[in-house]
Amino acid sequence: GSTLQAAAAETGRYFGTAMAGHYFNNSGTLNITNREFNMITAENEMKMDATEPSQNNFNYSSGDQIVNWALQNGKRVRGHALAWHSQQPGWMQNQSGTTLRNSMLNHVTKVAQHYKGKIYAWDVVNEAFADGSSGARRDSNLQRTGNDWIEAAFRAARSADPGAKLCYNDYNTDNWSHAKTQAVYNMVKDFKSRGVPIDCVGFQAHFNSGNPVPSNYHTTLGNFAALGVDVQITELDIEGSGSSQADQFKGVVQACLSVARCTGITVWGVKDSDSWRSSGTPLLFDGSGNKKQAYTSVLNQLNAG
Ligand code: G3I
Repeated sequence: GSTLQAAAAETGRYFGTAMAGHYFNNSGTLNITNREFNMITAENEMKMDATEPSQNNFNYSSGDQIVNWALQNGKRVRGHALAWHSQQPGWMQNQSGTTLRNSMLNHVTKVAQHYKGKIYAWDVVNEAFADGSSGARRDSNLQRTGNDWIEAAFRAARSADPGAKLCYNDYNTDNWSHAKTQAVYNMVKDFKSRGVPIDCVGFQAHFNSGNPVPSNYHTTLGNFAALGVDVQITELDIEGSGSSQADQFKGVVQACLSVARCTGITVWGVKDSDSWRSSGTPLLFDGSGNKKQAYTSVLNQLNAG
C-alpha cells in the first residue's frame, strides 16, 4: 500500500488519527487525514465537557461534524471518551456519591444512544488507574462513587449501543512489568470471568525518552489479547526526531502486527504542529504536512507485514 490506511488494510488492520475540529479549517491537514487514515478519533469534541456542558443539555455539534465527515468519507470512528476523571464539565466536577453515579450513567447512556450505529469502538472508561507502583485505582470523584463504577459504565454503554465494541483505555500500560499494566490486566481478566461487557483494551502509547517504547510490548499486547479482547494502539505519539524516532515507531507497528487481535493503530494527530505536545515533534508529518522519516518507517513496516 502507498498510504498508511492501504498498507494497514493489507494486514487486516486499520490506521487512524485523532482529529480536532480545527482540521476543517486547514485544507492541507484535511487532505492528509482523508488520504492516509481510515479510523477517526475526535481529539476533544466527544468528551464529557464538550457533549454535556450543562446537566442533561447535550451538545453534539462538534462531535457530529467529525463523525459525519468520517462516515461520509468511508472511515470508521473510535468514540472518545464516555467516562473520565478529567475534562468533566464543571457541574459534574462538583458532584459526588449517588448523584454523580447517576449523572455519569445518564451521560454514558445518552451519548452512546446519540451515536448508536456510528461507532466502531467506544473508550467507555479512560485512565482509571493510578500511576506508579501501587497498582491501585486512581482517586477521583468517579472512583469515590464505588469500585464498581467502571463495570456500571460498561453495562450502560452496552445497553445503549449493543453494536459498538467497548474498550478500556489508558496510558503507561505498555510495559508488561509495570504495576499499572498488571492492574488493568487483572481488571480485564475479572470482567471477562464475570461477564462484564468488555471487548477491547486501548493502549494510548504516548512515548518519550522517560517512557520509551518497551521491548516487551508484544508480550503485553499478546497477554491482554489472550484474555479474549481486541487490543488497539489508540493515541500513539513518540517524542524525538530522525532515525531514533523512526525506529521507535517501527517497534510499535511490529508489536501490533505480531498480535492477531491487535486490530489497529491510531496516532494522536496529523502534523507535529497539531500535537497536544505543542513544543514537540511526536507525529508522522511535520508542521508543513511533509512526511517524516517516522512516516516512511511506519509505512514500510506495515508493508513488510
Ligand atoms: O477550546 C479551548 C479554548 O476555547 C480555550 O481558549 C483554550 C484555553 O486554554 O482551551 C481550549 O481547550 C483546550 C483543548 O485541549 C482544545 O485545544 C484545553 O484547554 C486543553 O486542556 C485540551 O487539551 C486536550 C487534553 O487531552 C485535555 O486533557 C488535548 O487537546 C488532547 O490532545 C488531550 O488528549 C488526551 C486524551 O484525551 C486522553 N489521553 C491523553 C491525551 C493527551 O493528553
